[in-house]
Amino acid sequence: MGKDKLRKWAENETFNHVFEPCLQEAVKGVESEMKGRWAKQVFKNDNPITIELGCGKGEYTVGLARQYPHRNFVGVDIKGHRFWRGAKTAKEESLPNVAFLRTRLEFIEMYFGSDEVSEVWLTFSDPQPKDEKGTKRITSPVYIERYKKILKTGSLINVKTDSVLLYDLSKEGYVEAGYKFLYDSQDVYGELVSRVPQDLKNALEIVTYYEKRWLSEGKKIHFIQLEV
Ligand SMILES: C[S@@+](CC[C@H](N)C(=O)[O-])C[C@H]1O[C@@H](n2cnc3c(N)ncnc32)[C@H](O)[C@@H]1O
Repeated sequence: MGKDKLRKWAENETFNHVFEPCLQEAVKGVESEMKGRWAKQVFKNDNPITIELGCGKGEYTVGLARQYPHRNFVGVDIKGHRFWRGAKTAKEESLPNVAFLRTRLEFIEMYFGSDEVSEVWLTFSDPQPKDEKGTKRITSPVYIERYKKILKTGSLINVKTDSVLLYDLSKEGYVEAGYKFLYDSQDVYGELVSRVPQDLKNALEIVTYYEKRWLSEGKKIHFIQLEV
């Protein structure tokens, strides 16, 4: 085990805004005590909650929290050493509207109540090319239906990716499921940012760790926004 990972896991344990519940409880079907209580217990307000799923280092969680001080943001990932970066930055900047949750997205409804979340961001998720049924691709309708259990009606789901495969497979599934598209673009920086409202432009211009890599290789960034 790398010393760096151990150091980050240990530091996560000292953060009040990092939650790492026992995954086995969720596997057994035991709901988390946080379910339905994020606003009151964690953020101590009634502001709407956005979640970043498969958040990696949590660039969207932290970036959006800076842009929207009157909203709350939770980054979710199974790898705590990755979101340590976002958690550390949130602490350094004293951002009160940021939290991180370590779990698998398969169990997301164990941690949030119905109607508890208002928006989802999924950025540069693994395309899972062999996953024909969409049971591993966290942008697939299988997952969207899971996320809908914790989303208010009319919530936004934002999918940003470099992967043509993930974009095509996700879009095909969304069309089949009859989801409502608000935006659909195969070139975020080439054409989309010039035709969206300023707040969405600001959000789209947050660049994640993986995005930096794909941009340096000259890849075009794709985006879909659904209302569910
Ligand atoms: C390719 S990385 C993208 C990270 C970040 N969104 C970015 O743009 O830099 C995918 C992330 O999703 C997480 N992930 C993938 N499947 C997951 C699942 N089922 N549950 C929780 N996290 C998952 C991985 O641990 C990883 O950090």
